[in-house]
Amino acid sequence: MTQTAPKTPTKSVSLDALYSLIREDLKRVDTLILDRVKSEVPLIHDIARHIIASGGKRIRPALTLISSQLCGYKGERHVALAASVEFIHTATLLHDDVVDESKLRRGLATANELFGNKASVLVGDFMFSQAFQLMVGDGNIRVLAILSDASAIISKGEVMQLMNEGNPETTIENYLQVISSKTAALFSAACELGGVVAGNDQWANLLHEFGSYIGIAFQLVDDALDYAANQETLGKTVGDDFHEGKITLPVIHSYSKSTKEEQAFWNRTLGELEQKPEDFVRAMEIITKYDGIGQTLTMAEYYCSKAREALAPFPASPAKSAMLEIVDFCVARAY
Ligand code: IPE
Ligand code: IPE
Ligand code: MG
Ligand code: MG
Repeated sequence: MTQTAPKTPTKSVSLDALYSLIREDLKRVDTLILDRVKSEVPLIHDIARHIIASGGKRIRPALTLISSQLCGYKGERHVALAASVEFIHTATLLHDDVVDESKLRRGLATANELFGNKASVLVGDFMFSQAFQLMVGDGNIRVLAILSDASAIISKGEVMQLMNEGNPETTIENYLQVISSKTAALFSAACELGGVVAGNDQWANLLHEFGSYIGIAFQLVDDALDYAANQETLGKTVGDDFHEGKITLPVIHSYSKSTKEEQAFWNRTLGELEQKPEDFVRAMEIITKYDGIGQTLTMAEYYCSKAREALAPFPASPAKSAMLEIVDFCVARAY
């Protein structure tokens, strides 16, 4: 399958070097994924194809592939493990879009819009089962631990996030714990696997750290884009987080600076979910007034600098350069 063509990012960041280094492997990952979702149950096949063929950046499997290349791995295990990682990601997207009541994903109507919530949840479970079959196929106990732990942590993060819904007094520490769990856990697992298949524990640990930092940065930027992106480029509906009462850093920061009257606005719109059509514009005005987007991106850049530090001990190589490019992409991305 082909990658979704990047649609005019705001800054000139690209993943070209990355994709050119792993092109063949990534094709094999996509072939394996499509092969595994061929099902005699038409609804499984239809939903799986809908979400998988609609593209996506494939950044998590790409991280497994490039991390194994960074560690000099020459075998075959990384392909199935990268596919397993993308299956976990796809499962969480199917479930997440139901929970978030999202209507747009990868530039197309979400599976829940097209096929309904019940089908999305059930096929999400099917995707998880594919991930588990692939990791069991690998058979290594550390691999099983990494991926099953990541799945457990992701679910925990989504539940923690649900508990924060509507509470603009959520602390930054609490928010960071949520995004470390729901997003960074899979990034760190994806990277760590590269070191594990190469049999280098020390590098596996550094790669885990690296993945964790870029994962946090990736979600911080996602949360900024939910307010500030060009919707067509993003391929998701801008404003979903606000409309749903999801508490993310642009709001946490702005709320902490807000006047009494502005706080009342946040409490009405996010706390009580009493929203009028013009409220999103007002929310953006307050966020802009306190530079909520800028602060979020600054924090993302901080985590990216930690990611670059984690990568420092690795000898120079094309794979390392590509991974540094991923770090830049995580902050400057527009989709
Ligand atoms: C979306 O992830 C979910 C988040 C963690 C923000 P991606 O932005 O990697 O989604 P795709 O796979 O490229 O569509
Ligand atoms: C990411 O959070 C969800 C998961 C990691 C499961 P979001 O809810 O912000 O992701 P998008 O914006 O819907 O892609
Ligand atoms: Mg969502
Ligand atoms: Mg989001």
